[in-house]
Amino acid sequence: MIPVEKDVARFGALFAAAATTTPQPQPCSATSVIVAGMGGSGIAGRLAQALAERCGGLRVSAWSDYGLPAWADGSEHVFAVSYSGNTAETLSGAERAIELGTNWEAITTGGRLAALAHEHSAPVTAVEPGHQPRAALPLLLVPLLRRLTLSGIEAQVAEATEVLAEPAGDAGAIAAQLSGKLPFIYGAGGLATVAYRWRCQIEENAKQLAVHHALPELDHNEIVGWAAPPGNAVIVALREPDEPARVAARWEASRAVAWRDVPVVECRAHGKNPLARWLSLVQLGDAVSVELAHLNGVEPTPVVVIEELKRRLEE
Ligand code: PA5
Repeated sequence: MIPVEKDVARFGALFAAAATTTPQPQPCSATSVIVAGMGGSGIAGRLAQALAERCGGLRVSAWSDYGLPAWADGSEHVFAVSYSGNTAETLSGAERAIELGTNWEAITTGGRLAALAHEHSAPVTAVEPGHQPRAALPLLLVPLLRRLTLSGIEAQVAEATEVLAEPAGDAGAIAAQLSGKLPFIYGAGGLATVAYRWRCQIEENAKQLAVHHALPELDHNEIVGWAAPPGNAVIVALREPDEPARVAARWEASRAVAWRDVPVVECRAHGKNPLARWLSLVQLGDAVSVELAHLNGVEPTPVVVIEELKRRLEE
């Protein structure tokens, strides 16, 4: 198993390798797709959904549960994304797609999902084995994006490759500000999905709890809870350059009314297009989670609790 910290350090190189080795765009013809996947594999679908919401081209619904949404009627195209190929929820999504007679395909290293796909003559995109699922994000995301009719996606993949070749930012300094704290990670639009990635990476790699939420929605609920914040709270604000004035105004107003006495760590994305911008902050968050693991004195790679839980549920 490749240590998570090694993959995190070469996130940009993994993305560039995936962009080079994945077949060039062969978008599926569906205008509505469901991307079923959990945890580290599920984040690929969440990013694809956020890109579709921002750029258009088709409807993407990320699904992280058993089966498929009740509204699925067989007219969608289903992607079952599971790094191991053995995740119960994702397998049950593929089984539901078979029941509905839906076009579906798998993105996986193998396991039962690949076997099911072969049995039903569904296409399989084979992913390189040996990584932790969450560290394999570039290897899962690029082939998925190349199957979607997302507007301008190839130019975005090209720009992201350039942006991710640069260092992520000062992850060590950010981690030092989050050590021993409860980070509340916030982002607007697609950066809410990136905030979720930060949360999951801090939890899995640094074995530390974190919270995430989205602007503007949090201004209508969570903001009230800041009347009595935990003493160790710190806010991480994920922001895009040249964000719309109404988003910038919202950050400033939220800070003025609710976060006056709370430390706020601001992280700015790099790049022109959404994919490059969002992934630049994924890259930084992943690096922060590894630095935080070191500060917490834990190994980033093992996720013993997840493995034990999966074993118990299989018994
Ligand atoms: O990070 C992890 O190991 C988990 O979040 C897994 O990705 C999750 O349990 C799903 O497994 P898989 O990615 O193999 O489908």
